Amino acid sequence: MNIPDIIIAVDGYSSTGKSSLAKKIARKFGFLYLDSGALYRGVTLFAQEERLISRLGRIDPALEKALEGLDLHFGSDGRLFMGARCIEQQIRSMEVSSQVSPVAAAPFVRAWVDGKLRLFGSRGRIVMDGRDIGTAVFPQAQLKIFMTASEEVRARRRYEEMKAKGESPLLEDVVKNLRERDYIDSHRDTNPLRRADDAFELDNSEMSFEEELAWVQGLVQGKFGIL
Ligand code: CDP
Repeated sequence: MNIPDIIIAVDGYSSTGKSSLAKKIARKFGFLYLDSGALYRGVTLFAQEERLISRLGRIDPALEKALEGLDLHFGSDGRLFMGARCIEQQIRSMEVSSQVSPVAAAPFVRAWVDGKLRLFGSRGRIVMDGRDIGTAVFPQAQLKIFMTASEEVRARRRYEEMKAKGESPLLEDVVKNLRERDYIDSHRDTNPLRRADDAFELDNSEMSFEEELAWVQGLVQGKFGIL
């Protein structure tokens, strides 16, 4: 398919498979994939290491100034780096997952991340996944997908993913974390998680990766008249 230089936004709830689908779309269309959640996770790890967030999730206002000196960037293989250190594994830990949503609710954190995301997106041909890509970061995105799946399917996926990485989480902790994050993400004041009016909704609870990708290709063909 000869795809125009568009931005594709993939938003949705935790563990709905946004990143898996977005990566597949990127590979298929030759686009760049960008994981906005990784940046929120990177800021959270930074806040934890600098002791700028308490155990209860209270953010020290000094984090805003500290972010000026923070270097978060993606390596060529898509892994996240803090300076010279690859932090890809650490940012996926339960410790980071348990504090990322309060951190991501802080308006100054969102402004910092948004600045980076918009720079990446300025040249088009990207697929970005997150919570507010189609509503706030790139409201002009030419194709928006909003993903959902049943809570049971989502928890099971995240649980298996963590086990495959050698972690041993409790399924109930995984469920609790998904619920908490979805609640905070949908109820925060600044750019909460919601479906953009012009987004196409995809419930992939019972779909295979091949079916999902075929669904997206169908959308692109229909929307841009490409055969
Ligand atoms: O992969 P998963 O669905 O668990 O989450 P993620 O995409 O890694 O995002 C982690 C967290 O970052 C979310 O729960 C949100 O609190 C925050 N986030 C956000 O607020 N806005 C985005 N565009 C992306 C992530």
